[in-house]
Amino acid sequence: MCGIVGYTGPQSAVVPLIEGLRRLEYRGYDSAGIALGTPGTLFIEKRAGKLVNLEESFDESLPVVHSGIGHTRWATHGGPTDRNAHPHVDNEGKLAVIHNGIIENYSALKAELQSRGHTFKSETDTESVAHLLSDLRKEHKGDLTAAMRAAVKLLRGSFTLLAIHADAPDVIVGVRRNSPLVVGLGKGENFMASDVAAFIEYTKRAVELGQDEVVTITPQGILITDLEGKAVAPKEYEISWSAEAAQKGGFTHFMLKEIFEQPKAVADTLIGRLSDNNQIVLDEIRMSSAEIKDLKKILVIACGTAYHAGMIAKYAIEKWAKIPVEVEIASEFRYRDPIINKSTLVIAISQSGETMDTLMAIRHAKSAGARVLAICNTNSSTIPRESDAVLYTHAGPEIAVASTKAFLTQVIAVYLIGLHLAQVRGVMKDSQVAQLYYEMLELPGKIEQILETVEPLRTLTRSFAQSESVLFLGRNIGYPVALEGALKLKELAYMHAEGFAGGELKHGPIALIDKGTPVIAILPSSHEHALDEKMLSNIQEVKARGARVIVIAQESDEVVGAEHIIRIPRASAIFQPILATVPLQVFAYEMAICRGNDVDQPRNLAKSVTVE
Ligand code: F6R
Repeated sequence: MCGIVGYTGPQSAVVPLIEGLRRLEYRGYDSAGIALGTPGTLFIEKRAGKLVNLEESFDESLPVVHSGIGHTRWATHGGPTDRNAHPHVDNEGKLAVIHNGIIENYSALKAELQSRGHTFKSETDTESVAHLLSDLRKEHKGDLTAAMRAAVKLLRGSFTLLAIHADAPDVIVGVRRNSPLVVGLGKGENFMASDVAAFIEYTKRAVELGQDEVVTITPQGILITDLEGKAVAPKEYEISWSAEAAQKGGFTHFMLKEIFEQPKAVADTLIGRLSDNNQIVLDEIRMSSAEIKDLKKILVIACGTAYHAGMIAKYAIEKWAKIPVEVEIASEFRYRDPIINKSTLVIAISQSGETMDTLMAIRHAKSAGARVLAICNTNSSTIPRESDAVLYTHAGPEIAVASTKAFLTQVIAVYLIGLHLAQVRGVMKDSQVAQLYYEMLELPGKIEQILETVEPLRTLTRSFAQSESVLFLGRNIGYPVALEGALKLKELAYMHAEGFAGGELKHGPIALIDKGTPVIAILPSSHEHALDEKMLSNIQEVKARGARVIVIAQESDEVVGAEHIIRIPRASAIFQPILATVPLQVFAYEMAICRGNDVDQPRNLAKSVTVE
């Protein structure tokens, strides 16, 4: 939530700042603003709405200077207006601050600062930091870094803050607490941002920051200190993502590009995971055979789409490894007293690695004595850092707000974990595990096959564009797929959409069916159990009440009662989510286009949800 970027170096600062903001816009797009390091008084420009509004406001008065900070906002305190847009400045207009997160004690701070003569112009929590820093900088004889350390000691909440002052404009100071901030190390220039995507075009060298670390950048170097002013050695790493990966590459939208990147993402996540002697190789999970054998329970925590991957984990791990699995929405988990001990493994799934609800749930689980394994797509983000181990998915940067390729790779990751645990616990033969692994290796080709034949689905989708709501039905491992299909449609098409377990329909939801209601049913494969027959009965039930039924079915499975059938290649039932999800993503994408919605940046959402 909110994208932050800071630059100091030889370039005209507006260039890397705007480029960085463009790449961070997925984090929020309610307003955007910049502060440029003009000596004397800072140059500030900010506008409600998307980044383009800010860019359109630029004219010949835009100064060419070599440092600045920029912000793209997802509103929390104060509506999305010009005044509430960041940066926020002190009374003199010499000090500017941008912020991601929430300052929980801002009203007490604001009252005190007002009593000291500070005038507030916005309704944000952030503005109090600008005024506070201004006073503290004076107390610390003009040292902005020392002022930031002192300010942070007075703040409660979660935040990344960047500040710049007109008297030393090439110095930018940042800090993070429970919110992301990375430093980019360039040649004669340095960067700070919420995410490496902001500066990947200029440098592949990054430095991660710990909790409550204050970082000061100038064109010549960086200094990291703790809140007592003690120097902290920088932890440098190489960014593996390419600059091209964070661009649209000829596709109309990031989402479409990411849907089409799924075969590669799945293949990259699977590659090299089977040894010559048929063992699943998962050294990253850092558990000895004895610890794996001792496991009594697995708890999966995640939010949104990642939660749906967690639901699939339950089916796969219980089926293969015979360990009980509970799945819980992260934001609910920490408000109960879970039964956890050393024999519990908590698996936290997060694409961004920054989701605050998931992070808080991890802390709760750790404090109760659990071991935490993260499944994450973003290197060096907070969730992997705070977990005992991490299994990275290799989806590459996911920019569109709606998750697609990250979801498929999360599902692959839980399959790998399930097979590994089953093998170590001796409940599956190596040959069975190897056979399933080889079957997974065929999935990328099958996704490609689906993507090559989506055109009729796109046409079909358009015929449903005026519908008020769409229902999704699944059974067994198709149930989380139905939930995921409904979530995608809600967030992209702004339509009422719900996913149901097919058998649950008659217990209430069938009342929603009216003449013409579109129902999308994911038909379980007929080859493994008789569930397909039960779903076919559910299809008849809704059809009898006027529903227009679309069925997603494996090749050659018999389908009765459907107005349209979307065929997906054959696969074991357990792997069907990887294939059945793809047409649902395309359906939601196309529906959003038909309804004139912004696919990559749907309303009210942000990609990285760093508030609770
Ligand atoms: C939906 C979507 C969200 C995220 C959720 C968790 O398309 O993207 O529901 O899945 O906010 O985000 P991460 O995985 O970053 O923790």
